[in-house]
Amino acid sequence: MPLVPEYIQNLKPYVPGRSIEAIKKEYGLKKIYKLASNENPLGPSPKAVDAMIKAMSGINRYPDMGALELREKLAKKCNVQTENVAVGNGSEGILANILRCFLCDKDEMLSSETTFIGFRVLAMGRENRFIEVPMQGDTYKFDLDAIADSVNENTKIIYLCNPNNPTGTIYTKKEFDEFMKRIPEKVLVIIDEAYYEYAKASDEYPDSLIYKYDNVITLRTFSKIYGIAGARVGYGFAHEELVQNIMKVKLPFEPSNLAQAGAIAALDDDEFVKKALDVHKKGYQYLTDEFGKMNLNWIPSYSNFVMIDFGTEEKVNFINENLLKEGIIIRPLKPFGLPHCIRITVGLEEENAAFIEWLKNLI
Ligand SMILES: Cc1ncc(COP(=O)(O)O)c(C=O)c1O
Repeated sequence: MPLVPEYIQNLKPYVPGRSIEAIKKEYGLKKIYKLASNENPLGPSPKAVDAMIKAMSGINRYPDMGALELREKLAKKCNVQTENVAVGNGSEGILANILRCFLCDKDEMLSSETTFIGFRVLAMGRENRFIEVPMQGDTYKFDLDAIADSVNENTKIIYLCNPNNPTGTIYTKKEFDEFMKRIPEKVLVIIDEAYYEYAKASDEYPDSLIYKYDNVITLRTFSKIYGIAGARVGYGFAHEELVQNIMKVKLPFEPSNLAQAGAIAALDDDEFVKKALDVHKKGYQYLTDEFGKMNLNWIPSYSNFVMIDFGTEEKVNFINENLLKEGIIIRPLKPFGLPHCIRITVGLEEENAAFIEWLKNLI
């Protein structure tokens, strides 16, 4: 149809993990274990839920357009100025706003292969050129040198996801320092730290907020550790001039008033965050111990999920289809360009045990 530009006609939309309702219906199941979308298995932060319930009575009103209370609170927590904080409908919403804000005709985008598919879909939805650089052999790590080598005079945006989804790998402080030395100031570096809270305990992990580069935008989210993915609220930190412009192009009333209320309250829920990290740590240890016993090729992860390389797409399909019959939803990684791999979110004890039991049967 001539009305639709060619790059939109060719766009493969984001394929999310299968929903609980869809699997229940398809397989006639009552109980489902969803380990596919890196959500918080504990549920939402209770403080966020209480605040959203209270905020319900005010939804006849539009939200605060500048989300001032939320931005002030984030600024205080992270030791920056309110002017350095952007918010949006999820960190993916901010990503979309960044592309809308900064890309002009000839500008190009650059990232790694096999990284967060949400960015790929946003990038392919633009007419601008998007270059994806292969990873470092089979380590499943970004090749930051090769990415820096690929910068040309049209490169405007580099997207780096740290820890990376779906591999769970990180680039280290040293690698980041070397990389940034090679990146011109006119190139915007987006660092997606959706899984920051799971990685920050590692000495090697570069918390991008500490660096204060004028051309770096850090993105984080309330969707993972705070457990309010469905509310759609994310945040970012950057130089105030960048933030001012990102906030200009966002939809006037994103995030919603419920999302803002939930996020403000979630920031006080230290107890929930601690519990989520404890559950994650135990679950990760259990799963990876079991993977080791099964001699699986799993990739050490700094995130709330683990990737397993099964060698062939056939094995992945066999495992996935049979797990679905048992009500266990995992994420086969064909859409990410890794058809021989799966990703599993670290779940609750019972969920992890069910996955391991069935995986053992299948292998
Ligand atoms: C790396 C990464 N960035 C962003 C997102 C989306 O986050 P949000 O819910 O804040 O849009 C995800 C979700 O899975 C993700 O894995």
